[in-house]
Order: sequence, then C-alpha cells, then structure tokens
Amino acid sequence: MTEQTSVLRDVRRGMIPAHIYNDGAVFALEKERLFSRAWVFTAHESEIAKPGDYVVRRVLEDSFIVTRDEKGEIRAHFNMCLHRGMQVCRAELGNASHFRCPYHGWSYRNDGRLVGLPFHQDAYGGEEGFRRKGQRLLPAPNLATYNGMIFISLDPQAPPLADYLGDFRFYLDYYTKQSSGGIELRGPQRWRIKANWKIGAENFAGDMYHTPQTHTSVVEIGLFREPKAEKRKDGCTYWAGNGGGTTYKLPPGGLDERLRYVGYPQEMIERMKATWSPEQLAVIGDNGFMISAASLFPNLSFVHNWPRVADSEDVLPFISIRQWQPIGADETEVLSWFAVDAQAPEEFKALSYKAYLMCFGSTGMFEQDDVENWVSLTSTAAGSMARRLLLNSRMGMLADGAPVTPDLSPERFAGPGSARVGYSEYNQRELLNRWADHLERPIDAPAAVEVGTADGRNPEGCA
Ligand code: FES
Ligand SMILES: [Fe+2]
Repeated sequence: MTEQTSVLRDVRRGMIPAHIYNDGAVFALEKERLFSRAWVFTAHESEIAKPGDYVVRRVLEDSFIVTRDEKGEIRAHFNMCLHRGMQVCRAELGNASHFRCPYHGWSYRNDGRLVGLPFHQDAYGGEEGFRRKGQRLLPAPNLATYNGMIFISLDPQAPPLADYLGDFRFYLDYYTKQSSGGIELRGPQRWRIKANWKIGAENFAGDMYHTPQTHTSVVEIGLFREPKAEKRKDGCTYWAGNGGGTTYKLPPGGLDERLRYVGYPQEMIERMKATWSPEQLAVIGDNGFMISAASLFPNLSFVHNWPRVADSEDVLPFISIRQWQPIGADETEVLSWFAVDAQAPEEFKALSYKAYLMCFGSTGMFEQDDVENWVSLTSTAAGSMARRLLLNSRMGMLADGAPVTPDLSPERFAGPGSARVGYSEYNQRELLNRWADHLERPIDAPAAVEVGTADGRNPEGCA
C-alpha cells in the first residue's frame, strides 16, 4: 500500500516509476479499479447497422455481445451463459435473432432474454424449480453512445457519458462527425503486441516529440508533403475533459483552402461547414491547426493524417480509431479501425482506406516504427533496475511548474480546454493523473445477481 502511494505521488508530479509499464501488481489494480469503472469504447453503431447484427468485444477480460435487437435498440450483454457459465457467443461478429449456448443448449434472444431451456419441466420441475421468466444475460451495467460510438461502463454509478467525455466531445466531432451522416468503420484489424497498453494511449495523446526521430524514414521517402518531421513542433497539443491530442500547423489560408490542403474534396468541405460549430471551424480556418492524433482516457485513440497515396503531390486524409485492449501487464491487443465519413464520395473512401493502410494497421509504416519502441520499453521495464528509475515526464514545465510555453489564448485557439504550441508532455501527465485518480480509489464489490431463484435480482428483468 505504501509503495502504491508513493508510485501515485510520483506520477502526479510527472516522475514516472518505470516499472508501471510492466508490473503484474499494477495491472491487477488497473483491472480492479480502472477498467471496472471507466467508460470504455466497444463498437460503433455502423458495425451493427441492421437488427440482429452483433459484434463481440471485451472490456479487459469481460466479453460482451453488443447487438442491435429486433426493435433496433442497442444492447450489450455479458457473454456468459446463466447456466454453467460457458461463453454463449463464440463468433466475432454476425447477425442472429438468438444465441444458443454450445454447452447444454440454453438459448437467448438478441435482447438477452432466456427463451430456451432444454428439459425445463423434466430437469427443474418447470417454473417452480427454476424461474425462466424474467431471466436474461447480464446487461452491461451502463451503456451510452456519442456520435454512434458505443461505450460501456462496468460501474452502475458511472457519471453520464456526456460528462465523462466533457469538452473532449468538441474534438471527437472532427474524427466522428464530418457530416450529418456520421462515420462508417472498416475493420477492426486486430493483432497483439508485447507492450503495455498505457504506452500507446500516451503516445497518441501528445507525443509529437517522437516524430522527428522515430518516423524519420517515413518522411525521407516522401510519404508526407512536409519535408521535415520537426514541423510537428509548430503544432499544438490540447487537453479537454477526459481526452487530449495533437495538431499540425497549417500554411496560411482560409478554411476551404486549409481543408483542401490536407486533401478534402470541396463537397466534403461543404458538409463540414454545415456540421461543425463556428468554433470547430475556427480552429482550422482562423487558428490554422489541423487535428492529428488524440487519446480518450483510458484506452481509445484516434489519428488523422494526410499522406501521398500516389506518385504525385496530392495528399489524401484518413482517420483511424484504435483501441489498446490490455491482455496483461506486458501485452496488448490492438484493434484498429479505418473510419470515413459515410457521405464521402466512393472514390475518396477507397483512396482514404489506402492511405490508412500505408500508415497504420498491422502493416502500416508508422505502426511498425511505433511498436518497436513500445515493445522494447515494456521488456526493459520488467526487471528490478526499472524499480530504481523515475522517468522524467515533465516536458513543457519548468522546475517550479511554470509552463515553458504559455497556454494559447482563445484568440489563437478557439477550442475548449487548454492548448499550447510545441513539444510537451502535458497530455501524457493528464492521462496518467486520471490513471492515478482511479488507482487510488478503492471500489465497492458489486452485488451478485442470483440466477433462476424467486428472489433473484435481475437488473433488467423483463416480464
Ligand atoms: S453452460 Fe450454457 S447451457 Fe449449460
Ligand atoms: Fe508514432
């Protein structure tokens, strides 16, 4: 406990005990106190567009069937049979009105209700022995959506999702609502990396500093129009609500010109103008910043970039949503989706997908560069020497805590939260401060649901 207190105290002053990136005890606390409470992204509505569509996704170790039921309602049920606990649905995605457990054949409608129980009368004596009525797969304790993104929280007392996202919604719209049609997703590509989940989240939240070093070769081969990777320092980082990200500084010009500079066709620009608020448009058009990577606490990230996709000067933007799904202290499953405005022209969608695959996804050049660092960091953090090292994550701050670069005024940055130009680790610190907030707060053990008895409680029990 004492050790834990000192770890959190050090994290709060921007000095990071290196072992938190590979420590089984820390991971156990993250499981108990963080992932049992935070809002975690599970799927996007476009992945389950039709009644009966489902995907199976996890919040840490808990598997959920995320479905659209026959009435069109989105639901998430714990993927564990009420009988002996078998995983009910073993496919990754599909369309089904019912799920039948492979073990003894209990079946559930896609709204979670238990409807089939073989030999109910013979084996249990019917309703008197086992109340089938009102039984359903355990629903996720909390489910909410924003711009079609489906989040669940294992905490029934979680704050409303809108409060949790807070002002980060302003920035989420750039990635997930470029028109009234919202986005559609392709993927996810999934793969495992021997790296701690926090590293990816921190990197995407604010690490503009690694680009000139880690991604030198990508710039050298001319994948980007910018001839120098250090251009990144002209961008700003911002933090708002429970998320933050990075931007690039755009060349002089008006809104349309700047959106065209990153490769958007005019018809998409017109829809952005009809969809985004004056402040959202001002960040690009007046302030000259274009959003790039971002992270939402705890483990969801976004990226927006605009590489060359052909042998010409033309660039084309893409968006990727990615999740750092923890497997253990030293392993993460990466889920990487390609996202695109649903109303974008088909040709744009095809080229944007190509742009995404060149940069990110399992074979993306950026992905490969990044992951080598994260794997190496994780394995180095495993030993006893890492316990003697406090990493300095105070970039952007002087010894007395004063900022190296002052916050941008509202005239220079129209978005909410705080923003500043140049390299810093404000966002990584924000992310780890929230991590510390969760880890230091004990959690009450939730009440268990009793299956099939007269007094059994079933939170969404239905008649
Ligand atoms: S465990 Fe599912 S029917 Fe028995
Ligand atoms: Fe990177």
